[in-house]
Amino acid sequence: MGRVIIVSNRVGPLKDTGKAGGLAVALVDVLRERGGTWFGWSGEISEAGTFSEMKKEGSRSVELATIDIDPTDNAEFYAGYANRTLWPVLHYRLDLAEFSPVFEAGYRRVNQRFADRLRPLIGPDDRIWVHDYHFFHLAAELRAMGVGNPIGFFLHIPFPPVDMISALPRHRDLVRALMAYDVIGLQTDRDRRHLVDYLREEAGGFDHGDGRVEAWGRTSRIHAFPIGIDTEGFHGFAETPEAKRERSRLERHLTGRRQIVGVDRIDYSKGIPHRFRALERFFDDYPDERGTVSLLQVAPPSRGEVDAYADIRRELEHLAGHINGRFADLDWTPIRFITRGFPRRGLAGIYRSSRVALVTPLRDGMNLVAKEYVAAQKHDDPGVLILSRFAGAAETMGEALIVNPYAADEVAAAIKAALDMPLDERRARHFALYRRLLEGDAKTWANNFISALEAVA
Ligand code: G6P
Repeated sequence: MGRVIIVSNRVGPLKDTGKAGGLAVALVDVLRERGGTWFGWSGEISEAGTFSEMKKEGSRSVELATIDIDPTDNAEFYAGYANRTLWPVLHYRLDLAEFSPVFEAGYRRVNQRFADRLRPLIGPDDRIWVHDYHFFHLAAELRAMGVGNPIGFFLHIPFPPVDMISALPRHRDLVRALMAYDVIGLQTDRDRRHLVDYLREEAGGFDHGDGRVEAWGRTSRIHAFPIGIDTEGFHGFAETPEAKRERSRLERHLTGRRQIVGVDRIDYSKGIPHRFRALERFFDDYPDERGTVSLLQVAPPSRGEVDAYADIRRELEHLAGHINGRFADLDWTPIRFITRGFPRRGLAGIYRSSRVALVTPLRDGMNLVAKEYVAAQKHDDPGVLILSRFAGAAETMGEALIVNPYAADEVAAAIKAALDMPLDERRARHFALYRRLLEGDAKTWANNFISALEAVA
């Protein structure tokens, strides 16, 4: 069996720093078992950019290899085509998408340069696994250089319906480039259906019905591989001293009141303003609940150089101020809005101290907060997950309270139902969810993808 090369915009870390998500840990496990390299962006912006010296760390069997990007690439590739064009279009937000030939050219250029730098690292038996919307063109570039190795692609974010993706100028070039991958993985059956519909309608493609889809003279295996978490590991995090420390800090503050939690990067796809308005609606519809429960919203800022992100941050600050101004009392604040992240063990403690989690994105590829909240619960006294029907996670987490995040009254009623839910019902729902999280954990996800890639080798 050959080594594995993983490519993604953000890489690593190879060692447990307390910050890496279950996903990164599962990928490092694959690299350790097979030997291999994780290749991507160093996180640095420098004048030398993609021509910078390759930084390498790790051992002989598992290596991290990174390069910089330059300020123009950052503006056109990362902040441009990736985050101002593809991210909104793939999250069904044509209203926020910017279409610029300059961004598009920058994206193509960076994909080509990443392929150039990756090429010498590839051995004859290596399997290459590329991640996410930053690298639609990478396999096509590698093929043009004569690379014949099995190459797989996993899209972590949604793939939208044909009418949405076809609003993208030169959408055919983008999807055609995708067909240079041997295996294409998506989060859900719905995403898979959208891609296959596209190939059929726009490229006269043919679905063999066994995962193989033919289009533009190429055949790729297209499957849903729903991402999981390190379920038992995260459950264990909630018992660590770091978790207990955060719990006792919180409980001192809560003085017996219940807490609802939300944890999201500040991103318009997460539906945080809708969530705040639903909470306002909850205190309007159930006035007796004022003073009995509060929302802790943890929201680390993200992609601040993109206007839409700066705008949503301002909107949230305004809304939190408005709602707190309306309802707060001398000894109670309805919303605590914290714009920083927490180490993962501490986060597990925060989840365990929260009776309800509100995971209400307007659109999300999967959403691992939903899974981590469930994993962190105490089995004999678990909290309740309220989950948007528009998160990929809803496809496999049907025992959550599934809501339409646009309907404030519906979310308000779900908050009430969650707070009032009797213990036996909470346990029954939790048990079913947790068992499915064990079956579909991050390790299984990574192994399933690698097996599919092995099958084409
Ligand atoms: C999503 C994407 C990832 C991305 C992450 C953080 O989860 O699927 O590819 O790395 O957001 O965004 P950032 O732009 O900071 O890398």
